[in-house]
Amino acid sequence: MCGIFAYLNYQVPRTRKEVFDTLVKGLQRLEYRGYDSAGIAVDSPGKTTNKDANSNICLIKKKGKVKALDEALYNGDSMDLQEELETHFGIAHTRWATHGEPSPINSHPHRSDKNNEFVVIHNGIITNYKELKKYLNSKGYKFESETDTEVIPKLIKYVYDNREKEHLSFSTLVERVIQQLEGAFALVFKSSHFPGEAVATRRGSPLLIGVRSQFELPSEHIPIQYNSARIQEGVQERNSRNKTDSVVEQQEVVGGKAVEYYFASDASAIIEHTNKVIYLEDDDIAAVIKGNLSLHRMNRQTGDSPSRAIQTLQMELQQIMKGNFEAFMQKEIFEQPESVVNTMRGRISFDGSKVILGGLKDHLKEIKRCRRLIMIGCGTSFHAAVATRQILEELTELPVMVELASDFLDRYTPVFRDDVCFFISQSGETADTLMALRYCKDRGALTVGITNTVGSSISRETDCGVHINAGPEIGVASTKAYTSQFVAIIMFGLMMSEDRISMQKRREEIIIGLKDLPDMIKKVLELDGKIKGIAQELYQQKSLLVMGRGFNYATCLEGALKIKEITYMHSEGILAGELKHGPLALIDKDMPVIMVIMRDACYTKCQNALQQVTARQGRPILICSEDDPETIKYAYQTIGLPHTVDCLQGVLSVIPLQLMSFHLAVLRGFDVDCPRNLAKSVTVE
Ligand code: UD1
Ligand code: M6R
Repeated sequence: MCGIFAYLNYQVPRTRKEVFDTLVKGLQRLEYRGYDSAGIAVDSPGKTTNKDANSNICLIKKKGKVKALDEALYNGDSMDLQEELETHFGIAHTRWATHGEPSPINSHPHRSDKNNEFVVIHNGIITNYKELKKYLNSKGYKFESETDTEVIPKLIKYVYDNREKEHLSFSTLVERVIQQLEGAFALVFKSSHFPGEAVATRRGSPLLIGVRSQFELPSEHIPIQYNSARIQEGVQERNSRNKTDSVVEQQEVVGGKAVEYYFASDASAIIEHTNKVIYLEDDDIAAVIKGNLSLHRMNRQTGDSPSRAIQTLQMELQQIMKGNFEAFMQKEIFEQPESVVNTMRGRISFDGSKVILGGLKDHLKEIKRCRRLIMIGCGTSFHAAVATRQILEELTELPVMVELASDFLDRYTPVFRDDVCFFISQSGETADTLMALRYCKDRGALTVGITNTVGSSISRETDCGVHINAGPEIGVASTKAYTSQFVAIIMFGLMMSEDRISMQKRREEIIIGLKDLPDMIKKVLELDGKIKGIAQELYQQKSLLVMGRGFNYATCLEGALKIKEITYMHSEGILAGELKHGPLALIDKDMPVIMVIMRDACYTKCQNALQQVTARQGRPILICSEDDPETIKYAYQTIGLPHTVDCLQGVLSVIPLQLMSFHLAVLRGFDVDCPRNLAKSVTVE
């Protein structure tokens, strides 16, 4: 979840300041996607026409928000901000760290060498970066960052350095590089060997190009040049030679006269400059030479369109940033099929029933020897601990305590050297959780983070941990972070129980459940219309009770928190087992009650609670299995869910309540993403 932006002006004079402003503004538009560091690469002052390759390109990178980069650009006194750049290409990036913590060295653009001969910005993940790095290391290329991205500029330089007498265009070099890459990427390259030229490509991550010209664009469609199969050679014996590329690139397709190009990972950064855009498709390579844009790709595939349309964007900026969603919270709820996959990516082998959390594997022995596990968090992150406690107890056979960070500290809870303490936090900055972490550290316990934010205080200060990789969460109400925390903790339980023969069947059923989870989440999201209808009936109510037990108790707590947080209705999550001990007094025909009743070990007990509610004229809205007529017949309204393994059911049962709270808040006229009195990151005790 990073942001790419690049700007090329060809025969459109711009001062250096204007170029900087355009780049920075582009990044600011993308900042909602990732914001822990940012950087740009531009031509060095006074060097734009110099064809020698020595430091023609300068890099400016800063940790923190784009604002920090913006300030840095204007602090350097060596820059003549009024210098006019007739033709120039600048690239920029804002980062949400996944490999290595946020720091200038880890932020993009990444470079091939000290002279910045090739620089690149990247979104996505290179999964074979370790192999490539090893290979390039063996060839003498020195790495400076901890990122996967850095293999890309090193590799292009390697191809360039080994080209012998062959003339290789910039786009051919890029093509040879991407043949070696596995994973997902959107890339934009700049090089001092090809001044004023740009090359961009993608596979699996979005990338589009905006075109602005005072001249009429020659065509509404850009033809694609397909290059014939290549001769195998080069890097790892897999590279190829292309003698037709230079011809391809001479072809004048778009531009050529005064023209500006904007490259971005989403349209929000482009729309204010132009509404004419080309969306690249996987394996497209776009090159700009002398103001001409051409597109080509290796081999034509079946179903491939022979051209890319220049589309006219109709959307408003706000709309683009949130896609078709009304609020970030809604967008994040709908991202959950992907965000849970990102939590599991590269960590579970579904064939071999193996789970490896890279951040914990070296500490596993120590964790297995501990006396108890303590899971600590606040708000939604605490609920993720409640949701997974039972399965952790079962899989680890250890006592598991769940603690609200503030209460844990208030009690001066005894903690020992042989305790393992988990700190669960989306932001990684919550003050109470951070204080609890320091408290446990002082007492010699092993500390483990479950965080969404690489480089956050909790991620840095814990002894080890797991990044849940859910991507940035903007809405104050936490949604996708909860389901990813849930999945990450279950993966930890699976890792702990790997060598227990008695657990194998249980483990396998959970792993199959995890595999099917994204599709199941999609099915639940299809209920949105129905849930909106129910919200329309409820939105004028003052209060809403949410009841359940066992694996779904946490859903009630979390659902009630979502409702109170953004709708300002009173809402309580009630353990159904406690009904007779007080809450039953609230039940009558007017009190709205949502009950979660799934087919698990608590099913009969939940049925009893349901009887108690209906016997008092309660009209329950039931979140239950879609194929459970016994329960459905008592329902005033039903939200039927697909069935999954008991300990994962909570991932599905919480989603209707996320959606419900969203619709209730909209109907009540409140700002969903910024509820009153609350902040995304609670950095005070
Ligand atoms: C790492 C990479 C990931 C890559 C994977 C495979 C990073 C940040 N992650 O993931 O992008 O796909 O290798 O090569 O580079 N940690 C804490 N506290 C926390 C969270 C994490 O101390 O709260 C530590 C972990 O113990 C580990 C490091 O941070 O040492 C990275 O954690 P994580 O991203 O979860 O590790 P991998 O899954 O191995
Ligand atoms: O960033 P954290 O996960 O540590 O935040 C903890 C809580 O402040 C947070 O979950 C809060 O309860 C959310 N706004 C709930 O939606």
